[in-house]
Amino acid sequence: MRAIRLHQYGAPEELRLEQLPDPVPGPGQLLVDVEAAGVQFVETQIRAGRMAGTPLAPAALPWAPGREVGGRVVAVGSGGDAALIGRRVAGQTPSDGGYADRALLAAADAHLLPDSVETGDAVSLLGTGRTAVALVETSAIGPGDTVLVESAAGAVGALLLQLARTAGAARIVGLARGKAKLDLVRELGADAAIDYSLPGWTDQVRAAAPEGVTVALDGVGGEIGRAAFDLLADGGRFVAFGFSSGDITRTAPEEVADRQLTVSSYFGPPTGNRGPAAQRRQTAEALAAVAEGRLRPLVGRRFPLADAAAAHTAIESRETVGKTLLIP
Ligand SMILES: NC(=O)c1ccc[n+]([C@@H]2O[C@H](COP(=O)([O-])OP(=O)(O)OC[C@H]3O[C@@H](n4cnc5c(N)ncnc54)[C@H](OP(=O)(O)O)[C@@H]3O)[C@@H](O)[C@H]2O)c1
Repeated sequence: MRAIRLHQYGAPEELRLEQLPDPVPGPGQLLVDVEAAGVQFVETQIRAGRMAGTPLAPAALPWAPGREVGGRVVAVGSGGDAALIGRRVAGQTPSDGGYADRALLAAADAHLLPDSVETGDAVSLLGTGRTAVALVETSAIGPGDTVLVESAAGAVGALLLQLARTAGAARIVGLARGKAKLDLVRELGADAAIDYSLPGWTDQVRAAAPEGVTVALDGVGGEIGRAAFDLLADGGRFVAFGFSSGDITRTAPEEVADRQLTVSSYFGPPTGNRGPAAQRRQTAEALAAVAEGRLRPLVGRRFPLADAAAAHTAIESRETVGKTLLIP
């Protein structure tokens, strides 16, 4: 089969298309003929070598990236349910290797797809859907909330705008860069769309949400995340889940206490609402919402598998909206 591998950290061009033997499913595993593989923002950071020393860095090179796949089951490991062969599933790979013609899934983590959900749409909801569901739960968005969403035209952001609305938010302010993304943010349901690459954007948020921001969802970190934190009204909730800028948002315990804020994160160890059972449920909820027409998946671009480097370049240059997929 064809698979993408990385032999040294660096530019997108380090992602090479290679021929490898098909993986062999072990007990409890499925072998899937991949129809679509998700490209995660964090994979661009890992590839560039920026995650060295963190649990996200591969244990060794070469690294075969790819955590999100969907496609048809072609084999099951010993003791597995042969009736799954031929069924369409999507799920997170147990240990990367998703940018490939074939990939393994843990049977317990594979979601059977209804006919109404296209494989690429399902893949677009794996890491992002569970994250968006978890963030809305963690921040307990409800009626009366004014929600601020960063990189709102992005893969997670596009879902957050919609889920915050479903949860009853009174006002949603989406932040993004450039007119095309701002138009999309409005189309996805934001009451206001503001360009956070322009000076004075925080004043625009204050004008759009005079009652104050009660929930800030931070996927960018750095100065943007910090400005979002500063925009929170007293008693507000801040949830950090990403650092596309390269830096996490810095806050001090005393300012959190002084303003009676709640600060939480959706990072780190697989416990609590990041544990396997919670993530499986969150993903299932996102898939069900799409199947029932309550959530619109947003796939931005689909690249051929061989063009994985171009997919990484597009994500890094902030050209993409929604989820980026590789199609074998
Ligand atoms: N904790 C988790 O389990 C989890 C799960 C999924 C994703 N994440 C993280 O959440 C963040 C969003 O993920 P996503 O897949 O939805 O990505 P994304 O939003 O589709 O892409 C990143 C976006 O961030 C914005 N951005 C702002 N400053 C940037 C900078 N300095 N460099 C690059 N991009 C910048 C860009 O949008 P604009 O051009 O509009 O600014 C860019 O398009 C990522 O950091 C990701 O790693 C975490």
